[in-house]
Amino acid sequence: MSATELAPAEGATVPSDMAVLGIETSCDETAAAVVVGGSRVLSSVVSSQVDVHARYGGVVPEIASRAHVDLLTPVVAEALVESGVADREVGAVAATYGPGLVGALLVGVATAKALALVWDVPFVAVNHLEAHLHAALLDDPDVELPVVVLLVSGGHTLLVAMDAPGSYEVLGGTLDDAAGEAFDKVARFLGLGYPGGPAIDVAARRGDPTAVPLPRAMLDDGLELSFSGLKTAVINHCRRHPEVTTDDVAASFQAAVVDVLEAKALRAAAQVGARGICLGGGVAANSQLRSQITAAGGRAGLRVSLPSPAMCTDNAAMVAAAGWHRLRTVGPSPLDTGAVPGLGL
Ligand code: KG4
Ligand code: ZN
Repeated sequence: MSATELAPAEGATVPSDMAVLGIETSCDETAAAVVVGGSRVLSSVVSSQVDVHARYGGVVPEIASRAHVDLLTPVVAEALVESGVADREVGAVAATYGPGLVGALLVGVATAKALALVWDVPFVAVNHLEAHLHAALLDDPDVELPVVVLLVSGGHTLLVAMDAPGSYEVLGGTLDDAAGEAFDKVARFLGLGYPGGPAIDVAARRGDPTAVPLPRAMLDDGLELSFSGLKTAVINHCRRHPEVTTDDVAASFQAAVVDVLEAKALRAAAQVGARGICLGGGVAANSQLRSQITAAGGRAGLRVSLPSPAMCTDNAAMVAAAGWHRLRTVGPSPLDTGAVPGLGL
């Protein structure tokens, strides 16, 4: 059967009550979800492999792929049962096809295509970054566009202007490490384990954010960011001052990252006349970032949308939502779509 045979008939609209099964396997989370009409989440199941990778201090690609193979079928089954939607009522199957780890992505893409073929419904290939942009809207559907989305994850740090679902402009991003990568690397240096972001978030609450003087790279102009110098500054300070406490380093590092993210997000919003700022990606779960950007946005007259922490980190509800919008605007994806590890927005 060809992709066109799976497409809705020419001119057919995608119903607003269509249930989409979403699948996410780009990194170390195996996830499936059922979302109706791009916004109503009926189920969202996430099976994290964090424990499997923790002893290696980071994600091991081959282990991640094998774990997805074992976990995806039960995770999909659980998402369907929890949603109360029968197989024959699923209107489309969406899966992340990039960016991410190639072997991990292929598990989700192949499974989604197989289900779409068996159920005779469209397959939709979804960009993981676009899915993160949708997560903010899932928790705050009344958000007024245009917004600036600050997308801060383990692999990406992007400022994106969003005029409508599917219409984006990348305004800026990191020149080196992603924000989450910086959290993970500093946490590893401090012996806080993997993933580092949540561990630094907790340690920082006990520390003094002014204890260690750290740089805020390119704070005063532009929409580019850089975190590799900050990581080096942390390491140099700890070597010179071995008496410094882990909590003070964590708090000072987190403050430096959050100050820069706040300044850049506000500058981006002012530049494009955005009505609000949405956060997305795993680092958007950071408590300091959430409170600081909410306060700063409020002072600037901007509405700040904070997805729930579960919607910030990788999940399949955001994939299903982005898939529904993509089906409406672009249509189904060909069945020869492969994984694209380096896919951009
Ligand atoms: O979006 P995500 O789940 O996966 C990627 O697409 O990368 O993001 C994972 C990243 C990791 O670097 C993790 O350390 C970070 O998000 N993270 C946090 C927090 N929770 C997760 N960083 C700072 N504070 C947190 N509370
Ligand atoms: Zn992600």
